[in-house]
Amino acid sequence: MSRRKIAAGNWKMNKNYDDALQLIRDISATNPPKDIHTILAIPSIYLKNGVDMLMHIIGIDVAAQNCHQEESGAYTGEIAASMLASISVPYVVIGHSERREYFYENNAQLAKKVDTALANGLQVIFCCGESLEIRKSGDHVAYVSEQIREGLFHLSDEQWSNIVVAYEPIWAIGTGETASPEQAQEMHAALRSMIASEKSNDIADDLSILYGGSVKPSNAADIFSGSDVDGALVGGASLVADGFLEIMDALSKS
Ligand code: 13P
Repeated sequence: MSRRKIAAGNWKMNKNYDDALQLIRDISATNPPKDIHTILAIPSIYLKNGVDMLMHIIGIDVAAQNCHQEESGAYTGEIAASMLASISVPYVVIGHSERREYFYENNAQLAKKVDTALANGLQVIFCCGESLEIRKSGDHVAYVSEQIREGLFHLSDEQWSNIVVAYEPIWAIGTGETASPEQAQEMHAALRSMIASEKSNDIADDLSILYGGSVKPSNAADIFSGSDVDGALVGGASLVADGFLEIMDALSKS
């Protein structure tokens, strides 16, 4: 798949059933731009509603926020990639920093999750990003590059076409402090050039790299001005239909 502009939302663990359905209805009633690709990572319990309403009505894809690395078995409370595929969920987010931090997911485990997701026909939004401490040390590019190497470099050229990367600096998530457009562009360009030199130019050129971390309607256009910024993974601002629509529009115009 070639490089696409992608507006992705991540609801995280928000919205009870009635509110979730209302938000899905509100988004379905908007007229999202058709020249970008839109994905919403919604809580797993609502994915079937998302498939039936968002995907079938206005062509917005849905994503799960996680899946387990094993195919099936005695893993109480977990969700298998094959279950997501069985209800036609096309995407899964893997390696979000909240999963890495609170559920101790490491690069080796995430690489297995990627394999299992791809084997079941899912496309993967693979998250990476550094802490404030690492940013301050100046090692941020090396650190994030290593997350990409360990999580994705075992994949075949063909498998890379089902990967989207989301760079989400931890210090910018939910803090209101966004990376500057220059900081986002610097990291995206560094990752793309690392992938070009260590994998191939084609993989690097075709890869969509999204920025995440306090993206809002007011800063979206600036963030999207970077030539290596192909879209956003939006948390809080994706919980309001109008705000998310403004971000989609900003991406469409970028
Ligand atoms: P916020 O947009 O709320 O900072 O969250 C970003 C994020 O973690 C998306 O996955």
